Amino acid sequence: MLKTLLAACLAAGLTLPGAVAQAAKADEPIVIRFAHVVTDDTPKGQGALLLQKLVAERLGDRVKVEVHANSSLVGDAEELAALQRGDVHLLAPSLAKFEQYTPKLKVFDLPFLFDDLAAVDRFQQRPTGRDLLLSMSQHGIIGLAYWHNGMKQLSANRPLQQPADARELSFRIQSSKVLEAQFAAVGARSVKLPFAEVRSALQGGKVQGAENPWSNLYSQQLYQVQPYISETNHGVLDYMLVSNARFWYGIPHEIRSELEAIIDEVTYAVNQQAARLNAADRERIAASGKSRIIALSDAERAAWREAMQPVWQQFEGEIGATVLRAAKAANRSAQN
Ligand code: LMR
Repeated sequence: MLKTLLAACLAAGLTLPGAVAQAAKADEPIVIRFAHVVTDDTPKGQGALLLQKLVAERLGDRVKVEVHANSSLVGDAEELAALQRGDVHLLAPSLAKFEQYTPKLKVFDLPFLFDDLAAVDRFQQRPTGRDLLLSMSQHGIIGLAYWHNGMKQLSANRPLQQPADARELSFRIQSSKVLEAQFAAVGARSVKLPFAEVRSALQGGKVQGAENPWSNLYSQQLYQVQPYISETNHGVLDYMLVSNARFWYGIPHEIRSELEAIIDEVTYAVNQQAARLNAADRERIAASGKSRIIALSDAERAAWREAMQPVWQQFEGEIGATVLRAAKAANRSAQN
């Protein structure tokens, strides 16, 4: 995999050494700034801290990982540009946020495409999913791993049981045309807002609904300003751990190999724990009494699916039939 990444970067004309030359001076640790937009007690937040800890233990004074959580250094609207400039070195944006760099990752935003997180995981681990880690190399962005958060739920200021209940409501969305189309498909409006602004936008009435996994609903206290959460599991919110290719390949080989081994270990831990963290946050929200969790019957969920599924055709051309087929196939555990 790493050889393939290297080859892709070379093919894209990226100069490998140099970008971190000053950081790699023998007597100074390489500083890796890892910025993200969620709190420490989420799957991504925990992953960033584990990465920092393992790097401190194993690479001692050669590498230092700085973690900047909860949009404290840079928000999601600017973080990828900051990565390209080299102001930050590791990010794990939601897969919905790469739209301007590749259309292929839009596959992850398609509503009701993946049956569950296990299907998402299979797609990410199979060759087509692994190849997507390289889909932004012409922009100098390399994907190092997929990290799970979880399946998204719909929250609103009124109960959403049927698709028609969403009509005319405004939902906060991540910056994604697929998500815009998904809400348009049920007659709702959508407003693209940075993650750091979601709570205040819901509280102030700028938008009346949102879609989030349980961990984001809990850690950003969105459940306190959304009286109803429908358990739709209608899509996935996962991440790609990315770096700036020039920075990454400028790290001396021996250190980079150790970093990549650590990332594999952290990825395994994040992906093992994400479902458990989300389940615990769901229970906390249920126990808070602040928000009513609405279960959907099979027929109700099928109605949401039927209303939103036409979005697949709308984006199939951009995503590519092969990628879409591989994603659908991941709903089965056997490959054929
Ligand atoms: C969002 O903007 O809703 C998410 O991408 C935030 C995150 O990183 O989980």
